Amino acid sequence: ENRKDHRPIISNYKGFNFISNVHDQKHLDSLETFEIRETDVFVITYPKSDTGTTWFQYLLSLLYYSNEVEGEDAKMTIEVVPWIEVHMKKQDYCKKPSPRLFVSHLPYNLIPNGLKEKGKVIYVARNPKDVAVSFYHFHNFSNFLENQESFGDFLNKFLHGNVFGSSWFDHIKDWYSHKHEFDFLYITYEEMNKDLRSSVLKISHFLDKKLDEKTIDMIVEKGSFKNMKNNPVANSERLSSEHFDRSKGSFLRKGKVGDWKNLFTVAHNERFDEFYWKAMKDVPLDFIWDP
Ligand code: A3P
Repeated sequence: ENRKDHRPIISNYKGFNFISNVHDQKHLDSLETFEIRETDVFVITYPKSDTGTTWFQYLLSLLYYSNEVEGEDAKMTIEVVPWIEVHMKKQDYCKKPSPRLFVSHLPYNLIPNGLKEKGKVIYVARNPKDVAVSFYHFHNFSNFLENQESFGDFLNKFLHGNVFGSSWFDHIKDWYSHKHEFDFLYITYEEMNKDLRSSVLKISHFLDKKLDEKTIDMIVEKGSFKNMKNNPVANSERLSSEHFDRSKGSFLRKGKVGDWKNLFTVAHNERFDEFYWKAMKDVPLDFIWDP
């Protein structure tokens, strides 16, 4: 069976690369005026697979809807915290009870306008060398993205934004330079990876959620890489297998900082650094690159 026969793929919507068979234009059109509520929470990440969208979906589910992601009829976290840009037949986001939690890969210019007046935004970033590596593996694991043979070729596409999600650099720069327009928290994958407890406290403080010690312990314990990987509710393994080739990977792949060192050659690294410093020279952001 050749998975590549039914590959789609990328289509451009207002300058942003989407996956054609997952995103529909009418739904995307409706988002600009999507009505935001005071209690809405949007977690924004560059797609995929980058900053632990999966991680945040689970952490927020635990923070707000613990009972729905536990037990026998536990819902998938993607139902509890869906992607706003993906239209799900079963769900009408306008009718979803508050507080509504969403993840989104949308760039700044496509996000619902109302989010500037109400609601909260958490932007999760990760060092882009690890993003590129995670993304590369994700292409081979998912059936809806083109297989990538050579990492070097993929790296070029990534640097120039010829991938789902367009340019990592534009995504973070646009969001970060407009952060004052939102009730906004910036957090990195690396800090969550280093100290999940402090990160959970930071997130819950931003969300005005007062948690007792026991709840914090529970979230930190369940949100660990190991426990999520073994938990079918959290690891997205129940997502339709027609979209993913389980023999080739998983959503929770390694969960490490600095895995890029296993794939980057010296030449890749030089090419990357040169590109990075040019693109990011005016951006006051620092990343942790090493384990
Ligand atoms: P790796 O491919 O480097 O392992 P997304 O959900 O946005 O697709 O991001 C996926 C990345 O987040 C994967 O990175 C995955 O392992 C990591 N991740 C998800 N949950 C995690 C957790 N609990 N701890 C550490 N990393 C996690």
